[in-house]
Amino acid sequence: MAEVRGKRVLLRDPRPADVDARLRWATVETEWQNWDAPWEGPVEELVEARVSKYAANIAASIAQPLPSPRRQLWVERIGGPLLGWVGQYHHDPEARVIHVGIDICESAYWNQGLGTEALLLWIDHLVKELDLTCVRTATWSGNHRMVRCAEKCGFVADKVHRGSREVRGERYDGLDFILNQEAVSKRREVHDETQT
Ligand SMILES: CC(C)(COP(=O)(O)OP(=O)(O)OC[C@H]1O[C@@H](n2cnc3c(N)ncnc32)[C@H](O)[C@@H]1OP(=O)(O)O)[C@@H](O)C(=O)NCCC(=O)NCCS
Repeated sequence: MAEVRGKRVLLRDPRPADVDARLRWATVETEWQNWDAPWEGPVEELVEARVSKYAANIAASIAQPLPSPRRQLWVERIGGPLLGWVGQYHHDPEARVIHVGIDICESAYWNQGLGTEALLLWIDHLVKELDLTCVRTATWSGNHRMVRCAEKCGFVADKVHRGSREVRGERYDGLDFILNQEAVSKRREVHDETQT
């Protein structure tokens, strides 16, 4: 079982009881979808008739064996609710590069430093599990919370794709962020210090 404990948030594997939170993020608590890749268009509304099928699919995916290291861990507020998830993609073992992503779906918990804590815990976990020289993430210029969260984690913007994203009729820049080798080494040291 994978579990990474911070001061205020816990990263952990999904549990059967998480189905309700996942349903909530597809039906009632949906504002996060306006910020995570909104150019992909509105997420299909989950009509009543499809809810039970969706819940069954989530339950089935939770029951699947999980890869090591994990592609995704769930973010839980310690002493509080499930908030969202962190994920990794495009891992290139030869180039020793990985991309990370995050969604804190519970909007009442935004702007309290929890996303930054979760993303740093996740990066430290991946740096420990995988031999990485570079961690990347991406967002768009209208997502000020994510831009700030990335900066607080130590990322710097290394590519700006001018006007490449259209969101709700406005043009925004696509932003690629990088945590370079020096910064990754620092995260490794932070991890080692917290383990001793
Ligand atoms: C983006 C996200 C992960 C950040 O997590 P969070 O817990 O809200 O982030 P933090 O509280 O650690 O940091 C947010 C920062 O943005 C700042 N911020 C918020 N609104 C802002 C605005 N309009 N302009 C500038 N900065 C802003 C906050 O003040 C805070 O910075 P500070 O700590 O220096 O004051 C979370 O808000 C989220 O999941 N949003 C919806 C989905 C999403 O956007 N996912 C990312 C897709 S790339």
